[in-house]
Amino acid sequence: MKKIAVFASGSGSNYEAIIEAFHSLDSQQVEVSLLVCDKPQAYVIERAQKWATPTFVISAKEYESKEAFETVILKELEKANIDFIVLAGYMRLLGSTLLQAYMGRILNIHPSLLPAFPGKDALGQALEYGVKVTGITIHFVDEGMDTGPIVLQDTVTIDLHETKTSLAQKIQKLEHQHYPATILQCVTGEIVMEERKVKWVQKSNEL
Ligand code: GAR
Repeated sequence: MKKIAVFASGSGSNYEAIIEAFHSLDSQQVEVSLLVCDKPQAYVIERAQKWATPTFVISAKEYESKEAFETVILKELEKANIDFIVLAGYMRLLGSTLLQAYMGRILNIHPSLLPAFPGKDALGQALEYGVKVTGITIHFVDEGMDTGPIVLQDTVTIDLHETKTSLAQKIQKLEHQHYPATILQCVTGEIVMEERKVKWVQKSNEL
């Protein structure tokens, strides 16, 4: 059984989509063993209570450096024997402490077709630019902001009268559809990161 920690800062709809997918699979292969949240007021904490996921809430501003902050998180991950980190709306750049410990075992989801529109407010950036197609990217995490080898992308069209709310609904639907299955493929080693590239090791029809 591989143990996953989900990192989130906000609403947690992706966290819940992951949990629901793994529950309906009744998977013996993976479990979400920990939620790490850096925002004490985040709604994801309520969702985690509902699903009884052990939750670690930590405020960065209480630490003098990113290293000190991440060292405390790393201890929690080690205590819970976490194998893999999944970022799901975690609005903070990972530092070298977590990257060195988990390089190749960290996934992120981002609401644009990277490398377009990295960072915060990807939807706002896409609408402002006026692109007619945008989408989602699931990628392994490296030192950069929304960089790292890409595992999966999928697209949505931006219609003439698209609003941020309607675009967010389309994007989230796609995220919830793809993230659980992609996580499973990466955690079970079907897809791996090697020499900063994505490699498919074997095919499986699971999920
Ligand atoms: C998701 O759309 C995710 O792609 C985005 O935050 C949202 C979190 O939603 N992540 C980023 O923008 C990372 N740069 P959720 O809290 O409902 O899962």
